[in-house]
Amino acid sequence: MKHIHIELETYDTLDTLSHADRALVEAALDRLGTGHAPYSQFHVSAACQSADGQVWIGTNQENASYPVGICAERVAISVANMQASGQAITAMAIVYRDPSGRHQDPLAPCGMCRQALSEQSQRQHAPIRLLLANEKGATWVCADANALLPLSFSLKAL
Ligand code: THU
Repeated sequence: MKHIHIELETYDTLDTLSHADRALVEAALDRLGTGHAPYSQFHVSAACQSADGQVWIGTNQENASYPVGICAERVAISVANMQASGQAITAMAIVYRDPSGRHQDPLAPCGMCRQALSEQSQRQHAPIRLLLANEKGATWVCADANALLPLSFSLKAL
C-alpha cells in the first residue's frame, strides 16, 4: 500500500505570516480584480517571487471562446520566465475573489496549473513555495508545489 501525504501550514490572518510571505500575498491581493473575468466574475491573482527578489504578477485572462482563457498562475509563471529569465521562482502567492461568497478557505490551483508549477520546479531544480490565501488573509502554505500533484507526469516519462 502507498500512502500520499500533504502537509500545509495554516494561518488565520496575514499578520501571523513571515514578513516575506505576507509581502508576496499582499502583492497578489493588490492586483486582485484587475484580470479579465467577464464570464465567471471569478478573479484570481498570482504573485511569483523570483530568486533575485523581484515579484511578477499574473491575473486570469478569460475569452469568449472559453478554452482560450488562461489562469492567473500560468500567466505569472510566463511573465516571470520571460522578464527574469534564468531566475528560479522561489514562491507563488495565489488569491481569489469569489463572487458567490461561498468559499471560506483558501483555494488551490487547478490541475493544469499544478502541472505547469511542477514542470517549472523541475526546470529550475528547486521547489516552489505556495501561499494560498483568501481575501481576508487566511493562508495555507505548502512548502513545495509538487506536493499538490503527486505521481505527476513529466519529462522523465518521455
Ligand atoms: N482560475 C485561475 O486563474 N486559476 C486557477 O487555478 C483556477 C481557475 C480562473 C480561470 C477562470 O478565469 C476563472 O478562474 C474561473 O474558472
